Amino acid sequence: MSAINTVTDLTVDDDIGVITLNSPPVNALSADVRDGLAAAMAAAIADPAVKAIVLICAGRTFIAGADISEFGKPPRGASLPDVQAAIEDSPKPVVAAIHGTALGGGLEVALVAHFRVAVANAKFGLPEVKLGLLPGAGGTQRLPRIVGAKAALEMVTTGKPIGAKAAAAAGLIDAIVGDLRTGAVAFARDAVAQNKPLSRVRDRTVDGVEPGMFDAYRAANAKAFRGFEAPEANIQCIEAAATLPFDDGMAVERKLFTGLMIGLQSKAQRYVFFAERLANKIEGLDPNAPLLPVASVGIIGAGTMGGGIAMNFLNAGVPVTIVETKAEALDRGVATIRKNYENTAAKGRMTADDVAARMALLTPSLDLDSLSAADLIIEAVFENMAIKKEVFGKLDTIAKPGAILASNTSYLNVDEIAAATTRPESVVGLHFFSPANVMRLLEVVRGAKTSGQVLATAMATGKTIGKVAVVSGVCDGFIGNRILSQRQQQAMQLIVEGALPADIDRVLFDFGFPMGPFQMSDLAGLDIGWSAETSKGVTIRDRLCEAGLRGQKNGHGFYDYDAQRNRTPSPVAEKIILDYAAERGVNRRHIDDAEILERCLYPMVNEGAKILAEGMAQRASDIDIVWLNGYGWPIYRGGPMFWADSVGLTTIVDKLTHYGIEPAPLLVSLASEGKSFTNAA
Ligand code: 3HC
Ligand code: NAI
Repeated sequence: MSAINTVTDLTVDDDIGVITLNSPPVNALSADVRDGLAAAMAAAIADPAVKAIVLICAGRTFIAGADISEFGKPPRGASLPDVQAAIEDSPKPVVAAIHGTALGGGLEVALVAHFRVAVANAKFGLPEVKLGLLPGAGGTQRLPRIVGAKAALEMVTTGKPIGAKAAAAAGLIDAIVGDLRTGAVAFARDAVAQNKPLSRVRDRTVDGVEPGMFDAYRAANAKAFRGFEAPEANIQCIEAAATLPFDDGMAVERKLFTGLMIGLQSKAQRYVFFAERLANKIEGLDPNAPLLPVASVGIIGAGTMGGGIAMNFLNAGVPVTIVETKAEALDRGVATIRKNYENTAAKGRMTADDVAARMALLTPSLDLDSLSAADLIIEAVFENMAIKKEVFGKLDTIAKPGAILASNTSYLNVDEIAAATTRPESVVGLHFFSPANVMRLLEVVRGAKTSGQVLATAMATGKTIGKVAVVSGVCDGFIGNRILSQRQQQAMQLIVEGALPADIDRVLFDFGFPMGPFQMSDLAGLDIGWSAETSKGVTIRDRLCEAGLRGQKNGHGFYDYDAQRNRTPSPVAEKIILDYAAERGVNRRHIDDAEILERCLYPMVNEGAKILAEGMAQRASDIDIVWLNGYGWPIYRGGPMFWADSVGLTTIVDKLTHYGIEPAPLLVSLASEGKSFTNAA
């Protein structure tokens, strides 16, 4: 074995040159990897003993793409197109040997090899669209020449990878092998023995092109692609592959790639990629310290949240005991879980056996004592401090030593809940979002006494059940709801001052949210936390509820809904709003879209600054991750803090002042020093 550079080796196995890349963690195509690959190819081609070349990776995966951390920096080392040309034009056959994930630039390297072999659990994809990009190293031109226009269109616009079986069926790989290195070397030797032609993907034609297919695809996916620039650019590239000679298609790809790379959307999406991973890191905690076991889970409360939370663990194969006080509530909760699974099965996304397996892991119980052996207990009872304290007091006597005691409270003080036990170090907040089996966000609320091990285990557990976990300190509404309340407050003021709910919803929808605040209120139910007995008719919400408007559930809220849930602004709600404003002597005025946007979003940024200054969030990017994953902030705008940086903090300070809102000290100081929250926008 001879080292080509720090990340590349070349071994000659009799007549086969084996190039091994070893650049942990994911063999991304850094300058070193590109340099190593270029030099190793040259050495293998120059060595007369070498008749064919195998390209393989050490560690957990084949090349997982370009090195994203290099983007936007001055270019270094061998260029990727040059390295690809050296492989594609090699006079000796090159076999890419793939395990793990051949993604993005990784798959694009494999596509210039003459042959590809892989192990059975390998995956192949072009996920650049998720970074606001398109495959910029020939992927959009070569992939359709193998898998056809339709499959390529789907792969580049969704970014979803395919497995080895599908890849073999599509001709993307030539063989599935057992031991990768042995299998690839044998394949290469065989190619030499049979004198197989050195087929280049670029010389093939694109199959499956049908008239109108691209416009039909655009129309079918308009909702999913709304607001994003990259999917359209990806479609145009596949269209170019289908209609132009290879080199002309490459020129289209290059031009569109460059445009996306310098744009704000890709910058935002690349920032989010790293921000999501950073959120996992907890300052002051050793990432390698041992975690507590979470092999069994107890859940208290089988309502909306308890049932959804249970499904997360059942899906991950973790047994769950779910406890209610009354048989009726327990039966209803369990039936809802079953129904959810059956609905998924009816859509073909799960088998009947899967449903049975998950339900077999669930133990319903009316006895809190049945949680005595659970490693993790999550309380999801009513949002009431007295009840929560009572539950935690009892848990303290029941749970085994070392068990993690978690509350799913949305707003309440986790320290006060912890104080109901003799082991506050074991208590943590696990704030799931509704529907808990679907929403990716998990706020992990660190109490004043929560131990590092409990916190780290809670974060890791989030990852196990497929959530994006973010640490929050104890404050009213934690990170997400605390910021949300600022937006809600402004939205309510705006409708009194002159805007209508539909105006505000339209502006926020156009910004990229899936829906505006009033649609959201209608969806959640206007009567959450409202009761007829205590209603004083002092807020618009009180009056809507008193008038029988409950939101989508009874077809009337800020909007009226027809049987298909199409909405039209409710004249009843509008009259209530106008009367309310008149009673207060408000002279309603026209409010333009810019003011609506600024008044809804700048106070959120302001609250984010306070959260940061108080240490309630570890870093600005954690706030962004909360809003992206829990509240529908459009990913191509990077989250409220990244977005604020892109707007300019001075602008935000000035506008807040203009609207009579006091800017947070941190916001003011960053703005005056010309600094930003994230250093990324
Ligand atoms: N560039 C730089 N760093 C990368 C990287 C990349 N392409 N892919 C992963 N990393 C880093 C992560 O930031 C993380 O770093 P950390 O440990 O310091 O936090 C580390 O590698 C491990 O990553 P994950 O935690 O994500 O590990 P997983 O095992 O969960 O996932 C993966 C592995 C599936 C490869 C996942 O990391 C991934 O999806 N990576 C991105 C793949 C991608 O988008 N490739 C296309 C890049 S763009 C491109 O190729 C352009 C080309 O067309 C020209
Ligand atoms: P829910 O009313 O749907 O369910 C609560 C369940 O707890 C009921 O089934 C009730 O019978 C049961 N319960 C009450 N006291 C109990 C006790 N002592 N022992 C066992 N079971 C008991 O309420 P939901 O919406 O599920 O909320 C639960 C918690 O989750 C609350 O703290 C809420 O703030 C929080 N939350 C709710 C979200 C939502 O969107 N609904 C989102 C995030 C958090």
